[in-house]
Amino acid sequence: MPIACITGASSGIGKEFARRLDEEGYKLILAARSEDKLKEVQKNCKNECRIITADLSKRDECVKLGDLLAKEELDVFINNAGFGCVEDFDKSDLDNDLKMIDVNVTAMQILFRKVLPGFVERDRGMILNVASSAGLLYGGPYMATYYATKAYVTSLTSAVYQELQSRHSHVKLSMLCPGPVDTNFNNVANAKFALSGITPEYCVDYALKGMKKGKLTIVPNTVVRTGVTFGKFLPRKAQLAIVQHQQSKKR
Ligand SMILES: NC(=O)c1ccc[n+]([C@@H]2O[C@H](COP(=O)([O-])OP(=O)(O)OC[C@H]3O[C@@H](n4cnc5c(N)ncnc54)[C@H](OP(=O)(O)O)[C@@H]3O)[C@@H](O)[C@H]2O)c1
Repeated sequence: MPIACITGASSGIGKEFARRLDEEGYKLILAARSEDKLKEVQKNCKNECRIITADLSKRDECVKLGDLLAKEELDVFINNAGFGCVEDFDKSDLDNDLKMIDVNVTAMQILFRKVLPGFVERDRGMILNVASSAGLLYGGPYMATYYATKAYVTSLTSAVYQELQSRHSHVKLSMLCPGPVDTNFNNVANAKFALSGITPEYCVDYALKGMKKGKLTIVPNTVVRTGVTFGKFLPRKAQLAIVQHQQSKKR
């Protein structure tokens, strides 16, 4: 039976990945902090499902999880745990911003780096780093740190994708770059969506189709995909002004 691991599987996009991959016949390894919520997900699984509680803002817990995953013959890894915050940068909670960098960047990097050699050696499988449409833009006023963390995810994933391509690797590496998805994200980020959100079900269905095709960049929201595509042709300051206008509606 193939094995899939999902971080941030206690809620939202990660929880839906767990449901879908269980349905597709994967054995699951699920990680997050909330044991009760993970147990709830586990209860609904048809196949074997192991839960691991870990606080991925803590480096030792990430390394421990990464070492454990490196010993598994994973077929799918969904590097999904993350959070954001809406705030003026000069008034932001620095400790929270640093924790965001720990989860969205450092944990993502540790786990990706620890699991990738196994995939390369087996020359198969799919890895998805969950970024955001935020990671495809120059920056996001009022969510400056969050946008910067997601730009790191898109840059890192793109570079490693090209390394794998140049070696003719059969490992499929993708980055998921959604716009708004209706999850618990907004409650944690203290935000309101400027655009209407897609469901986690639609997001994950779209993501799985893209991953199976080996697509590097997966943007499930049509309006966002169009915006990001045309946004690339704008000068940096013009794009920032448009993003600021949209972002100000989130407050
Ligand atoms: N929703 C959106 O609009 C949207 C758009 C673009 C990208 N994304 C990205 O999608 C990913 C999933 O977010 P979501 O929308 O599904 O939000 P969510 O419903 O709030 O889920 C976030 C998940 O991350 C886990 N997590 C957060 N901090 C953690 C920590 N310190 N250690 C371990 N796990 C942690 C949470 O689990 P515990 O709280 O149990 O630890 C939860 O399972 C994130 O990377 C987010 O940036 C979301």
